[in-house]
Amino acid sequence: MKSSNLVAVTRRSFGATPDGTHVDIYTITNAAGVEMRAINYGGIITSLKVPDRSGQRDDVVLGFDSVDGYLKAPPYFGAIVGRYGNRIANGRFTLEGEIFELATNDGPNHLHGGVKGFDKVVWAARPIEGTRGAGVEFTRTSPDGEEGYPGNLNTTVTYTVTDDNELVVEYRATADRATPVNLTQHTYFNLAGDGSGDILGHELMLDADHYTLVDETLIPTGEIAAVEGTPFDFRRRTAIGARIDLPHVQLRHAKGYDHNFVLSRRGDGLHHAADVFEPRTGRTLSIDTTEPGVQFYSGNFLDGTIAGKAGHLYGFRNGFCLETQHFPDSPNHAHFPSTIVKPGQMYSSKTVFRFGIRN
Ligand code: GLA
Repeated sequence: MKSSNLVAVTRRSFGATPDGTHVDIYTITNAAGVEMRAINYGGIITSLKVPDRSGQRDDVVLGFDSVDGYLKAPPYFGAIVGRYGNRIANGRFTLEGEIFELATNDGPNHLHGGVKGFDKVVWAARPIEGTRGAGVEFTRTSPDGEEGYPGNLNTTVTYTVTDDNELVVEYRATADRATPVNLTQHTYFNLAGDGSGDILGHELMLDADHYTLVDETLIPTGEIAAVEGTPFDFRRRTAIGARIDLPHVQLRHAKGYDHNFVLSRRGDGLHHAADVFEPRTGRTLSIDTTEPGVQFYSGNFLDGTIAGKAGHLYGFRNGFCLETQHFPDSPNHAHFPSTIVKPGQMYSSKTVFRFGIRN
């Protein structure tokens, strides 16, 4: 359909939602062998093929072959998450003196935008071309009152694949009333390939000296704790599985890792968040972001009951997520960086996922 530099974008049909709305799939390919597919339902990244050290391309994200799998509300596979990624305690917050009640969909709490968040709606989409690559732009207005949130929120999310094997995700939003906004991307990665088993052998580096402690419902207690001397210290590359089953109260609350790490190199622009290395294939993933935090989720709620692409059963810890974000439950913690977007302000956020290989 369109091409820029050496990156090409094509569109075809991916079926329809039960109310008959068409769903399209965009395929974005660069000259170095990266191919990404994304659909306008939930802005979901359905597949991402990258080469390994021998040049073999594999799909490194979890998902489904057809729209039906996504319509069954899987746990946010590949999706844009909003209006607020992560949890808000008891679905309640006070803003400018008014109490707001949000949908609760995770025990007592609000999670990932509510019952029907940004991951479960059809977005307007169009192919885009930039100077460094090409991709797809998704837009949508979240109406005033949706899932309990105040104000209309005009949202734009773009995925750009570059010649340098990067996926650049950019978020922008404006509101006509003050509202919390915390957009993120919920792709589950398995750099050894979709369906290849657990991710415990992946080696992870997180550029974080601190993380936010949570209670048993995964709501931050408000305490920002040092990772030093704990299984949460990923400042040196460490296998995800090396300490995941240690008897640490925070690991017990989440059945593994499902925590917000406070990024150490925060500045105005992009800063480094994480590196991942998969030793068998040599694949690497490096993440830079403008966000102050990243939720590292080790797929602890996957239990083998979801049959994904090619019938792969997604078992315990078969994928991991690195969700760049503001901290969970920020509207209820004045000392966390603010997530409130006011009329006249532009919410903007950017994350770069760079794929590579190492011997
Ligand atoms: C996020 C949450 C997890 C879980 C997954 C999806 O990572 O923090 O607790 O909800 O999404 O299951």
